[in-house]
Amino acid sequence: MNLQLRGKNALITGATRGIGRQIARELAAEGANIGICARAIEDVQEAVRELKSYDIHAVGEACNIRDADAYRAWVDGCAEQLGGIDIFISNVSAGGGFDSEKNWWKNFEIDVLGSVRGCEAVIPHMEKADGGGSVVLISSTNAVEVFSAPMAYNSMKAALITYAKQLSQYVGDKNIRVNSVCPGPIYFEGGAWDMLKDVNLPFYESTLRKIPRGEMGSLKEIASVVTFIASPRASLISGANIVADAGFTKRVQF
Ligand SMILES: NC(=O)c1ccc[n+]([C@@H]2O[C@H](COP(=O)([O-])OP(=O)(O)OC[C@H]3O[C@@H](n4cnc5c(N)ncnc54)[C@H](OP(=O)(O)O)[C@@H]3O)[C@@H](O)[C@H]2O)c1
Repeated sequence: MNLQLRGKNALITGATRGIGRQIARELAAEGANIGICARAIEDVQEAVRELKSYDIHAVGEACNIRDADAYRAWVDGCAEQLGGIDIFISNVSAGGGFDSEKNWWKNFEIDVLGSVRGCEAVIPHMEKADGGGSVVLISSTNAVEVFSAPMAYNSMKAALITYAKQLSQYVGDKNIRVNSVCPGPIYFEGGAWDMLKDVNLPFYESTLRKIPRGEMGSLKEIASVVTFIASPRASLISGANIVADAGFTKRVQF
């Protein structure tokens, strides 16, 4: 299937490692131009170098999305350098943690406000694009079923699903689609589950047992889902929450 991504301009936050980086690779492999950010400049430069090997235009800046002005400047700078924005993947998260109020503020600021600020910055650029636009917010299965403990992470990831749905209605007449994707556990070297396997093997193993195929998702699997949802070939999908978890969650979705 040709995903019709060649020549589209896609921005991905937090794309120097893990899921964000693989999404950037998959989009680049389909011919999209890429704009990325993360906090560590050396990692951004290294990722941009790799992305350029796909024979596309790739740009990147060191930017902490907590800094609203720097974040907006990164979006506007990418739009200028790439010649517009067609796709936005909001991928950065503050991650989980049990440190009560500190984590609630951090997850609100990074997960929720980070996505809201990103959308508010990219949508004016998408309105100018011929083919409209596509926004994907990266949520988590932690948002849709009881997981681990009542962490801020779980609730703030849930807020993203509602925001994506409502935004999709608001911008739909501009041919902009908005969806959220909930990855289940994704295993990769240096990732959260790799770390958990070392520090809490019983928890890692009990999580694995909940996945019918007995294997967590891979970077390539989750990035393929996001790439399809972001692409024009998913033109019927807007306001949806896509759970991509190999059966990890147990609720029936209607
Ligand atoms: N891994 C999983 O199993 C899993 C499951 C469900 C959902 N998710 C979600 O998927 C997304 C990606 O997770 P991941 O596991 O791939 O994360 P990761 O490996 O920790 O990568 C995070 C990326 O974001 C960047 N970053 C972190 N804080 C930032 C900030 N304040 N400003 C700008 N960039 C920042 C990091 O680079 P710097 O450190 O240099 O900034 C890095 O590039 C997250 O939203 C996560 O909640 C993951």
